[in-house]
Amino acid sequence: MTDSITIRTPDDWHLHLRDGAMLRAVAPETARHFARAIIMPNLVPPVVTGAHAAAYRDRILAALPEGSGFTPLMTLYLTEDTDPEDLARAHADGLITAVKLYPAGATTNSASGVTNFDKVRPVLEKMAEIGCPLCIHGEVVDSDIDIFDREAVFIERVLDPIRRATPGLRVVMEHITTMQGVEYASEGGPDLGATITTHHLVINRNHILAGGIKPHYYCLPVAKREEHRLALRRAATNGDPTFFLGTDSAPHTDANKLLPCGCAGCFTATNTLSILAEVFEQEGALDRLEGFTSLNGPNFYRLTPNDGTVTLTKGEPVIYPDHIDTGDGPVTVFDPLMPLHWRVAE
Ligand code: DOR
Ligand code: ZN
Repeated sequence: MTDSITIRTPDDWHLHLRDGAMLRAVAPETARHFARAIIMPNLVPPVVTGAHAAAYRDRILAALPEGSGFTPLMTLYLTEDTDPEDLARAHADGLITAVKLYPAGATTNSASGVTNFDKVRPVLEKMAEIGCPLCIHGEVVDSDIDIFDREAVFIERVLDPIRRATPGLRVVMEHITTMQGVEYASEGGPDLGATITTHHLVINRNHILAGGIKPHYYCLPVAKREEHRLALRRAATNGDPTFFLGTDSAPHTDANKLLPCGCAGCFTATNTLSILAEVFEQEGALDRLEGFTSLNGPNFYRLTPNDGTVTLTKGEPVIYPDHIDTGDGPVTVFDPLMPLHWRVAE
């Protein structure tokens, strides 16, 4: 029986760090075990220019514990006014690693996102030319489309047409939640990747809605039926390099989660590696954990994998705190509803 596994230091290819007191509380949680992360730009106001990205990167670096080697990989928030030249300069300077597309209204702080995809055509063409990846929140926002169908409809109506119209555009389907997402990504060739979150490997929609409403399991895209969760687990654990970890760890204070109209997001930065080791062990795929957390992402982003390693050991269940304290109030840590036997050796 395996009771220890050593993998290259992981990266998180989709992370929300927020700003101010929240940033200072959550950044160390990721920096403890991850070397790099793609940082989401959905602040208020959003990170829309190279200058904003540089200033935000400096605030993140200042929030890290002394001696942390963590590198934030910055993104720009795509709007209908994004200047292709500013974007190209920020990319050439190494200031940004990718650009994030939110359909306007799809999720938290997405109001400045894209409504008319024709308006961002010149930016997408510039990105294809310079090889800057586009990270996409893939859900339509039409009120007549059922929320559980919004990802599958987006693929058909928006994503596939954009990719056909923009050859060479490198795209990451962020936080996929459906078998349609898995299928489309796995057939998309080398210019298409997909991130999968930790929590979507663990919960289905029953966890949110059956036996009482559980706001801490509400995130976007919302967790789907069990058959979709199983498709995600197969995709993450079968060794296909298309799929890599993007936790979408998205902290909101309990006060903001437990409202009549509560915020979307699961906070998994604290216990993600323990949960993933448990999931991969359950799938008989511990030997593929490293590909998912540490190799497939750098391969897609054309970066070298990290030199360092982390070791996970198996033993008595690890107890994580049920929340972390932040200057803005407590943030609940995602409860995977199963004992976690794998801990990161310090
Ligand atoms: O659950 C989510 N939370 N999904 C998103 O797309 C955004 C995120 C957030 O920023 O809170
Ligand atoms: Zn996100």
